[in-house]
Amino acid sequence: MHQAYGGVVPELASRDHIRRLLPLTDLALKQAGVRLDQVDAIAYTRGPGLAGALLVGAGVASALGMALGKPLIGVHHLEGHLLSPLLSKQPPAFPFLALLVSGGHTMLLDVQAFGQYALLGETVDDAAGEAFDKSAKLLGLGYPGGPELARLAAFGNPAAFDLPRPKMHSPDLDFSFAGLKTAVLTRVRGLGSNLCEQARADLAAAAQEAITDVLVHKTARAQQATKRRSVVVAGGVGANRQLREKLAATLSARGVALFFPELEWCTDNGAMIALAGALRLQAHPEAARAAGPFDVLPR
Ligand code: KG4
Ligand code: ZN
Repeated sequence: MHQAYGGVVPELASRDHIRRLLPLTDLALKQAGVRLDQVDAIAYTRGPGLAGALLVGAGVASALGMALGKPLIGVHHLEGHLLSPLLSKQPPAFPFLALLVSGGHTMLLDVQAFGQYALLGETVDDAAGEAFDKSAKLLGLGYPGGPELARLAAFGNPAAFDLPRPKMHSPDLDFSFAGLKTAVLTRVRGLGSNLCEQARADLAAAAQEAITDVLVHKTARAQQATKRRSVVVAGGVGANRQLREKLAATLSARGVALFFPELEWCTDNGAMIALAGALRLQAHPEAARAAGPFDVLPR
């Protein structure tokens, strides 16, 4: 639906949410073999995200909570991503270091326990997913660009272009990807009509190499600083195969256990929000008696 526009159109997204939310709820309950009145609580994404789409979710969740007399749990979108590895068949145990790489966020977090998250570093401008998406757009690829850029990169030579790796050697754990996007733009403009198929593939490979180099370098540095023995990668960019391979090569050598949620839990999904809600309910049994908004989340 959004592909023709090269990005998500907020108004279309909200209207689509209105159309789909109740049929989807019915389907999910049916597949789980649960009746609506049997659920313990209603968890929904409180944010961050597109206001219109969030409002639809919050509206439906509030109505359900009120009608059923069940507690309502607003979950932070990123907490959902952070806990999504626990949905895996082989989940990590607390504590772990998390690299959270989505279309809107790039963060390194020390996850000490459920609800105890310390932010170690984050992007100062574009997110890693944005760097993938924007580079892909410059190369004439569709949206979302990450998977398409990765596909094209398989045919390219990353050494054909020398792209910058912003902030890679800075002593902090922050990221910056805006300069990389500008560098890709400069190369595309410089080549003009000479941007042949091979040059496009080479540039895609070079961009992917630069993005993953920075992500791996900073994650390795964070592991060294925290001495955590488990590292978890969450968010849509966690689906990137090169990122997975490079992280494995770097961290396995140190004897660190690496966890990647299955692809369906990496990208946005409702199960991770339900899981975060369920864990909160477990941690705060008093919530089970509270019919109405229940909100104890760290901001
Ligand atoms: O977590 P997510 O599904 O949505 C949020 O942003 O919250 O992440 C979407 C991002 C997009 O930028 C998309 O291009 C990127 O994840 N992505 C990938 C791959 N699959 C998805 N980036 C690189 N390689 C992939 N295989
Ligand atoms: Zn997300």
